[in-house]
Amino acid sequence: MASTDTLTPQDWTEVVSPPAEVQAAVAALVPDTNGAPLTTAQLADLSEAIVNDPAIWRDLIVADPVRRRYRLLFEDDRLDSWVIMWMSGQGTGFHDHSHSAVGLCGAEGAVVEKQMTLPSGHTEVIVRPGDRREGPSGYIHSVAHHEGGPAITIHSYSPPLIEVGQFRVDDEGHLARYPEPGRKELLDNTIAEIAPDLA
Ligand SMILES: [Fe+2]
Repeated sequence: MASTDTLTPQDWTEVVSPPAEVQAAVAALVPDTNGAPLTTAQLADLSEAIVNDPAIWRDLIVADPVRRRYRLLFEDDRLDSWVIMWMSGQGTGFHDHSHSAVGLCGAEGAVVEKQMTLPSGHTEVIVRPGDRREGPSGYIHSVAHHEGGPAITIHSYSPPLIEVGQFRVDDEGHLARYPEPGRKELLDNTIAEIAPDLA
């Protein structure tokens, strides 16, 4: 499993700077909400519309076997949209999106989304091209590669993803939530290392 000090460098400015034509193309798909945050259904609709216009994201795709790659496609005061590329072994670990709601849609290949169930275990859903998932603020999940090289998914968040909570289990089995910047790379090195049956 990759750790942060073995990852290949990437141009962070590039990651969060969508090409102007990409930003404009997504802007044309964003519904007018009169300034209000988008609903989960609107977010999933937007992600699906982006999936259905591969010209928006095709040129941004890279297949990086070492680290999970992603690029910002659009942002404004209400939302941000991302394309995420998943290779074998790459996943997020369990996390939430703080105050942001999420709507995602599969574009190519497949990822597996898991939701934790207590006292142990998880449910899981395979997300294939055209499949949508929606989660309100507080939604907890993990997402990981399932098949394809890379698997490609589109994710939209509203309000913009400023904070995520990453879940870790300590040596005594206590679960804790660690607030992290929303644009920081989530690595599957949290619960996965200590409780692999939950990852
Ligand atoms: Fe997420």
